[in-house]
Amino acid sequence: MNGAGYCERSMTHEQWTAVDSYITDLLLEPDPVLDGALEASAAAGLPPIAVSPNQGKLLYLLAQLCGAHTILELGTLGGYSTIWLARALPPGGRLVTLEANPEYAEAARANIERAGLTKVVQVHVAPALDTLPKIAREGAGPFDLIFIDADKQNNPGYFEWALKLSRAGTLIVADNVVRGGAILDPAAGDPRLGDGGIQGVRRFYELLAAEPRVSATAIQTVGSKGYDGFALALVTAEA
Ligand code: DHB
Ligand code: MG
Repeated sequence: MNGAGYCERSMTHEQWTAVDSYITDLLLEPDPVLDGALEASAAAGLPPIAVSPNQGKLLYLLAQLCGAHTILELGTLGGYSTIWLARALPPGGRLVTLEANPEYAEAARANIERAGLTKVVQVHVAPALDTLPKIAREGAGPFDLIFIDADKQNNPGYFEWALKLSRAGTLIVADNVVRGGAILDPAAGDPRLGDGGIQGVRRFYELLAAEPRVSATAIQTVGSKGYDGFALALVTAEA
């Protein structure tokens, strides 16, 4: 990439970020609890990769559209998306969130506590592929909405478990399914996703395409988090 190209790219990202601020300032209420969750996450050294505020509100609206009483989240990070999703629940609603990194989970628990959601949210600290069979055996699910936003190399396994923990009508949402277009070029990879991240996302698409029990699409997004996307899959038949 030449110098001019790089400049153009960063100007574009600046504009995406400015437009995100415009949207967020107009359409989202000031929210010290959510801002505080991001600040505490940064102070604890978590990577700044939580969903953006307007994306968080999208998750909140999707959960309300589903009439979700039960939500499963894979990848808690500092609990930012967790708080958005849990706030969409009616009284008595429950959110189960899975986090492999104990330091992330500790930061998330504190943020969830400050949001007054400790009784609503259950944080499991272990690799999600260990926790999922355990909670399934214990009778968890079916969940009304499932948000997949953990390590991307395991997306195929996460999708299989999401289906097992679904009913007809469950909405499965997955973050980071575009990665600046890197999903077209698995050989190029994505250093920020680590080994197998892009392959995991591509395999996830292939599973969606082959799965008769879901109706799915994906949408490319730009904004403060760059150029990426969300996949949405509606479960149309019992798993
Ligand atoms: C990144 C962003 C994410 O939303 C995520 O879940 C993982 C990584 C990133 O930009 O590196
Ligand atoms: Mg993500």
